[in-house]
Amino acid sequence: MFQTLIFLHSIFRWLVLISLVYAIITAFRGYSKNLSFSKRTDQLRHWTATIAHIQLMIGFTLYTQSPLVKYYFTNPKTFELSEISFFSIVHGSLMLLAIIVLTIGSALAKRKAADHDKFKTIAIYYSIALLIILIAIPWPFSPFSQRPFIRLF
Ligand code: HEM
Repeated sequence: MFQTLIFLHSIFRWLVLISLVYAIITAFRGYSKNLSFSKRTDQLRHWTATIAHIQLMIGFTLYTQSPLVKYYFTNPKTFELSEISFFSIVHGSLMLLAIIVLTIGSALAKRKAADHDKFKTIAIYYSIALLIILIAIPWPFSPFSQRPFIRLF
């Protein structure tokens, strides 16, 4: 169960990143060129948020299964940032924050009347969400905790 979840969670990060980057580029292009907000762009807004929500659900499930998180909650804690405290506190909190920002942006954009404002809202909120996600991902070069780019098992 844990192995399957971590594999899915690792792969799904790429879907989250690709859809977010594509949505942000589309939003900045639409905003700067005054394009019309097509049905396809609206689908992109919607699916980008949905993919992030699926990753959030996988993350929450993984949280209940992770040996690191179990260790954190059953042993004395220090204030040092270790791999254990990173995954038990920091990673999930930052990702939750990012997805809240993204969800607010998606909902606000949907309610804007002018296409120009829809693009602007997506560009701003999705960019902030992307920045937080990039910081919270345990990249192989991250100063907080390191995991591989692709997990093959
Ligand atoms: C956009 C949202 C998220 C992204 C992109 C993301 C990405 C990642 C990545 C790349 C890993 C490393 C996977 C590996 O070991 O190969 C990871 C690990 C982990 N994530 Fe997330 N994550 C997200 C949200 C969450 C959330 C919301 C939670 C829970 C509250 C969570 C809990 C965990 C845990 C517990 C681990 C490590 C488990 C372990 O090694 O024992 N993630 N995440």
